[in-house]
Amino acid sequence: MQRPIPIYEEYTFEKGLIISSTDLQGIITYVNKKFCELTGYSKDELKGQNHNIIRHPDMPKAVFKELWDSVQSGKEWTGLIKNLRKDGKYYWVYSHVSPVLENGDIYGYTAAKRPASSAEINEVTPLYVEMLEKENN
Ligand SMILES: Cc1cc2nc3c(=O)[nH]c(=O)nc-3n(C[C@H](O)[C@H](O)[C@H](O)COP(=O)(O)O)c2cc1C
Repeated sequence: MQRPIPIYEEYTFEKGLIISSTDLQGIITYVNKKFCELTGYSKDELKGQNHNIIRHPDMPKAVFKELWDSVQSGKEWTGLIKNLRKDGKYYWVYSHVSPVLENGDIYGYTAAKRPASSAEINEVTPLYVEMLEKENN
């Protein structure tokens, strides 16, 4: 029998900066080693994929809308994201996403993330649950 996807199992990690870059459409153009370790995918598996490859079903759509609205208008976005690993486990990150500019034009986006603290996770979880419930009704 196939093992069910363990989306309720947390993948814990200590420290390190997790970096990823995308083009204007959110297609991954660069990831660092830490990103691969955390997501469980290799660089080759990630490059060219939509960044939503690690989207977790517990994440409300509205969070990503806010992220995209910010960076597309040239502003930075910070927030907490729960992500889905290749093995089905999840992990939480504090994320800082910014537009990458050249001569005033946005040509891509870069995210720097770190492990989220338990306090941050506990604060945001009820909000996300409420947002998700609203979106699904
Ligand atoms: C630089 C950058 C980093 C992103 N990081 C994540 C991430 O870690 N997890 C995630 O689910 N979405 C991330 N996103 C948002 C995704 O592009 C996407 O909007 C999200 O996964 C929701 O999928 P959807 O837009 O297909 O609904 C990131 C976007 C950008 C531009």
